[in-house]
Amino acid sequence: MAAAHSWTLNLILVWIIADTTGKTPDVQVTCIFSEDCVLPCVFEAVGDEIVYWFRQNVLIHSHKQGSGLLDQPDQHYNGRMSLFTEVISSGNASLHIQKSGPQDRGKYRCLVTSSRETSEHFIIVKVEAPICSVSLETTRLSGFEEVKCSTRDVYPAPRVTLFTEPAVLPDALKTFTRKTSDKQGRYSVESKIRKLEDLTYICLVQSFYRSQTWKTSLQEKEIFSVESQDFNIPCKAPWKLQNFTLTWSFTKGHKSSTIYTYDSLTQLSSSVWKEKVRLVTPRGQGGDGSLQLRNPLRLEHTGTYTCILSALQTKHEVRTRVNIIPMTAKRLSESSTQWWIPAAVITVLAITTVAAIIGAIKCKVGCSKSNQTHVEAAEMQPIRVTDANSGAPSEDTCLTEEIA
Ligand SMILES: *[C@@H]1O[C@H](CO)[C@@H](O)[C@H](O)[C@H]1NC(C)=O
Ligand SMILES: *[C@@H]1O[C@H](CO)[C@@H](O)[C@H](O)[C@H]1NC(C)=O
Repeated sequence: MAAAHSWTLNLILVWIIADTTGKTPDVQVTCIFSEDCVLPCVFEAVGDEIVYWFRQNVLIHSHKQGSGLLDQPDQHYNGRMSLFTEVISSGNASLHIQKSGPQDRGKYRCLVTSSRETSEHFIIVKVEAPICSVSLETTRLSGFEEVKCSTRDVYPAPRVTLFTEPAVLPDALKTFTRKTSDKQGRYSVESKIRKLEDLTYICLVQSFYRSQTWKTSLQEKEIFSVESQDFNIPCKAPWKLQNFTLTWSFTKGHKSSTIYTYDSLTQLSSSVWKEKVRLVTPRGQGGDGSLQLRNPLRLEHTGTYTCILSALQTKHEVRTRVNIIPMTAKRLSESSTQWWIPAAVITVLAITTVAAIIGAIKCKVGCSKSNQTHVEAAEMQPIRVTDANSGAPSEDTCLTEEIA
């Protein structure tokens, strides 16, 4: 996905959680998996400080102004953790972690003692390998058609939710989810469900700390249209989109090419097919990338049209198999349907007449004037006669009055 490289977050995210006890507030730091990370610890320098760093109450580093390292810290940490010795004298005892990993998570304590005072800071460290890409595709690997949603190299394991719209009972979809981890501890998660007709498949991938949610959807369908008649190929995102790019491509046989692109931010579009295609909704507002195809030709424009709407952590794809049928085929189908229209009209008229006659005869037997209006109403609206027969309002009135 294009958004894969948009993770331009700094090495760390730091925010302060209000501490209810009124002491030094805890600081939360999120380190990016296998990148360097800095745990902040500042103090008022007087010159004779000793700095201690603990992780889960285990001493991992200590430093005395002027004499450097005090004792040999745990070898396990020593290789990757260090202080910025050149800035300690100015009151900065921040801890530098190289190539952070899951083993670095936890609660850290920075303790600074001097002849004047003692200060301590607590830092909660999380480690995260952000979601960089999500793929949603169809597969036949299991022997039947399935839709697979997957993401890889994420830490901690993300939540993957794959579902359809409209919703289908889970039994019919046979959802299958698998989670694997690599040597460093990063997770790959894939979820698969059966592919059924006329459904939109939606996959949501949420990071463990909920800092990111990726949304992607896939829809496949088929439409028929008549030669040289303008028609629309729908492509609308299931959610509102802002700052998106739209790409339409056309596939025929093994050849695929981009035919239209649009960028909602710059509002620039380019059309390889020139005037042949245009957006249905001006500027694709709200994420409607539907395309109008003008004056299509049967051979040239029959094929698969793929629409991709993509935005930050969002992708929506619609693949439409378009069949352009010749005019003659349409005329034939039209004339065959036209046969039915006069036949249906005659049938309805015949039923109407018969019903009217029966109604009139019954009314003559002993009905008040009001029934005349019922019959008239029935004649005025012949289509309703079928209802009148089943509900038989005129007869009902007659009968009740006769009984009365
Ligand atoms: C402490 O020093 C490190 C290394 O120079 C720097 O990255 C960090 O921003 C400094 N912290 C503060 C609070 O100045
Ligand atoms: C879209 O881009 C504009 C301009 O860069 C920016 O101000 C806005 O926040 C963006 N909106 C979203 C939802 O990303």
